[in-house]
Amino acid sequence: MMFLIQYSIYWLKKMTNNIYLKTNSELIEYLNSRFSSESLFIIDSNLNYLKIDEKVNAKISYFDINEETKNLTSVEKIWDLLFQHNLNRSSEIVIIGGGVLLDVCAFASSTFKRGISFTFVPSTLLSMVDASHGGKNGFNNIYGKNQIGTFTLPESVIVCYQLLDTLPEDHYKDGLIELIKHGMIANEKIFNSMITKMSFNVDFEIIRDGIDVKLKIVSEDFLEGNKRKLLNFGHTVGHLVEKDSSYEITHGQAVAIGIYYELLISKEQLGLPKEIINSYLNYLNQIEYDYEYKFSSNSEKLIEMLKHDKKSSGKGVDIVLLYEIGNPKVINLTFNEVIEVIQH
Ligand SMILES: NC(=O)c1ccc[n+]([C@@H]2O[C@H](COP(=O)([O-])OP(=O)(O)OC[C@H]3O[C@@H](n4cnc5c(N)ncnc54)[C@H](O)[C@@H]3O)[C@@H](O)[C@H]2O)c1
Repeated sequence: MMFLIQYSIYWLKKMTNNIYLKTNSELIEYLNSRFSSESLFIIDSNLNYLKIDEKVNAKISYFDINEETKNLTSVEKIWDLLFQHNLNRSSEIVIIGGGVLLDVCAFASSTFKRGISFTFVPSTLLSMVDASHGGKNGFNNIYGKNQIGTFTLPESVIVCYQLLDTLPEDHYKDGLIELIKHGMIANEKIFNSMITKMSFNVDFEIIRDGIDVKLKIVSEDFLEGNKRKLLNFGHTVGHLVEKDSSYEITHGQAVAIGIYYELLISKEQLGLPKEIINSYLNYLNQIEYDYEYKFSSNSEKLIEMLKHDKKSSGKGVDIVLLYEIGNPKVINLTFNEVIEVIQH
């Protein structure tokens, strides 16, 4: 116990420095003031419109990547890049992009010559509120998503609100779902603000609040022993939806559905008020996301899939449920208890 407390305090002290900027010109100014010409910037190709190569005095490389190429081949390409630029352990790397690029480059950096420090500039809503915080990185292989990776925190995370202006709507929605999940497990203000706001976009303040939810949870449980599991709310059923649809349904949409079913289970098991479920359904309607899903796999197959969940053991799975907004609990349910709800 004492060891765990000391370990968490150690990581708390090492926590990342977060910088919040509103505009792209503030971002360019900050990057020029903070990084030397020796730093290497690895930038998502979809952000070349920012013309960072013309505006920042550093080594710049654009990288084209997506979920399908989030693999060892891409990691090797990044390692090559680091060798070609002669980087060593005192070098600095800045990674600008979405969660895929951040995960792969952070893995490559954290293993290159036993670790070079790196800074994130997340450019999607999901990577701002989720992927860039907490130190997890990695890539996919034939055994599944993010199966190889490390826990290594970035030196700093620079969150620039204006980057979201060009983010395609579908990707924006993925981030909205993770953000509302943060609100549901830990911050009623985020939840209320999102379900009552008429416009699609979220305010910078709500993004910052969402980041704080993740940082607080991670600082209490860096290596996902217990509390960090709360961040999996909606993901137990969400992963089933993704697998059942052979990944035809996007992660954001799958988690949106997963949250709906886990709210239903919360009502049944913990008495979560029905109004919360209704508010959430209205919100999904507003952002034009589905909430129900017809599983094509039978119960046996679904149980088999559930057994592969990292939170499963014996006859059941640890699932995050809610008493109320901001009041979650990890409960062990039998596989059948989960399957019964999602098949009706
Ligand atoms: N490490 C973690 O803790 C963690 C947490 C959650 C998710 N993830 C990972 O994050 C990944 C998903 O990340 P994502 O949702 O950011 O997707 P993504 O990285 O695939 O980005 C989505 C798309 O938007 C483009 N893009 C990025 N920023 C843009 C901008 N500002 N304007 C226009 N286009 C832009 C990208 O090129 C890409 O085509 C998954 O691989 C997931 O495993 C990691």
